[in-house]
Amino acid sequence: MRRGMKKLFIIANWKSYKTSLEAKEWLQELTNLQFPVSSEKEVVVCVPFTLLPILKEYTDEATLSVKIGAEDVSPFEEGADTGEVNAEQVKEFADYAIIGHSERRKYFNEDDALLTQKVQMALQFQLTPIFCVQDENTFIPEGVTLVAYEPIFAIGSGTPDTPENAEKVIKTIKLKNPSVQYVLYGGSVKPENINTFTTSPSIDGALVGGASLEAEKFVALIKNA
Ligand code: PGA
Repeated sequence: MRRGMKKLFIIANWKSYKTSLEAKEWLQELTNLQFPVSSEKEVVVCVPFTLLPILKEYTDEATLSVKIGAEDVSPFEEGADTGEVNAEQVKEFADYAIIGHSERRKYFNEDDALLTQKVQMALQFQLTPIFCVQDENTFIPEGVTLVAYEPIFAIGSGTPDTPENAEKVIKTIKLKNPSVQYVLYGGSVKPENINTFTTSPSIDGALVGGASLEAEKFVALIKNA
């Protein structure tokens, strides 16, 4: 059952994949495949920092109807922070930034305090945080309106959460965090299973890793959502 005018987010997370040539090929393929554009479906592609200018240039020129996101952002403003990319720099190319993905929490030791700083920086420069949580008890910083529920066992495993459990967790997240407007599901989402999540009343879309890397699959995800 499709919901009335409720907005749905289909968000790609490329992680640490694709060279600039591969990104251009994906964009060309996506353009050729012509996915349906709808104001009810917000399509966002989150990519490594190096690929942000390519996506920006492409979407500006080819009127490809996707929004652009980064996969992280510095917790600081401009300054002497070698290796960091700050929110003002990201905002030149993107409208969204993933913050608090479980891979960053696990491999880069990002904690609640650091993630709160990142959210504050994103908001200061009008980037919408896509804040990732692992369960209904994960801390969500003030100002976050868009959340992705991504249980660790489901990420890249081929074994998604059940739509019933995802619905339950997401409903709880919304009850516990009244300022959160949208909560997506992420973890082994594929064209074949996306609508089992997006048709669930509390689930507002999907954050997709592996299946977003092939343009054809990504278009199928958008169509099937
Ligand atoms: P997956 O990753 O779709 O490859 O499971 C999702 C994510 O980590 O955002």
